[in-house]
Amino acid sequence: MIQFADRLAALGRNVFADMDRAKTARKSRGLDLIDLSLGSSDLPTAPLICQVIAQSLEDPSTHGYTLFGSTAEFRGVIAQWMTERYGVSLDPETEVLPLIGSQEGTAHLPLALLNPGDVALLTDPGYPSHYGGVTLAGGELYAMPLLPEHGFLPQLDQIPAETVARARMMVLSYPHNPTAAVAPLDFFQRAVAFCRRHSIALVHDFPYADLVFTGDRPPSVLQADPTKSICIEFYTCSKSYNMGGFRIGFAVGNPDLIQALRAVKSVVDFNQYQGITRGAIAALRSGDAIIRPTVQTFRDRRDAW
Ligand SMILES: Cc1ncc(COP(=O)(O)O)c(C=O)c1O
Repeated sequence: MIQFADRLAALGRNVFADMDRAKTARKSRGLDLIDLSLGSSDLPTAPLICQVIAQSLEDPSTHGYTLFGSTAEFRGVIAQWMTERYGVSLDPETEVLPLIGSQEGTAHLPLALLNPGDVALLTDPGYPSHYGGVTLAGGELYAMPLLPEHGFLPQLDQIPAETVARARMMVLSYPHNPTAAVAPLDFFQRAVAFCRRHSIALVHDFPYADLVFTGDRPPSVLQADPTKSICIEFYTCSKSYNMGGFRIGFAVGNPDLIQALRAVKSVVDFNQYQGITRGAIAALRSGDAIIRPTVQTFRDRRDAW
């Protein structure tokens, strides 16, 4: 009889698998449905990005492993992109880490931060990889409720002192899935001050950075922590560039957090395929030209309701 680790049971059910079963059941009864079960775009990846990836297939130098934090070119483009967008300066060698998607990074980071029993402060509702990563690391979950009367922002002063004392990480994610709330910069400033006071790593998952329909660009948490004292932020090409299936994203921020995540990651994978990395470079270099029509399509759909 095969014996499995306790952490497997602790991972519980997978919400995406549950939704998939529910969709299949309805479709098999011939019912049409609008699929809101997963934040996966149904729009195609831009031809420019696809062409770069296709050309890379013909180039044998892209066919091997991509070791050591992916390519210097990609890390440099990411650093420049963060500066142009958010006015944050980053050392591409120590403060940037390419990833196989934001989910990969947020799920692996707790292995670098938590000893068994250490607390992670997570939002409720929140994204499954945030919870799953903490569970895999043997951490203890503390759910910070997100309520409409507080603009779906956690009330940091409501967290019990005993819990704060044992907390090693806090995970935020704005624009927020699933409430669509956007956090103002002054909330991030308060969160940074709180985390610094209590020596808690502040993790910001930022996949919907571009998917807003009104107002200014949502802030990066690094604008509230320009010295990168305590924050790490995760971005992905899945949403803004409709590249979900290509699996590419990155982390930026505090060099010790980046180094710790790199150490965990280096046990697990050898980075994304270089051709896809070149596609992501083309995406980031395209400014807002690729993003704009995507946002417009989603805005039109939203307004149709
Ligand atoms: C909050 C959040 N983080 C991460 C992801 C996944 O990002 P990636 O495709 O880069 O792994 C999603 C996708 O729905 C998400 O909603």
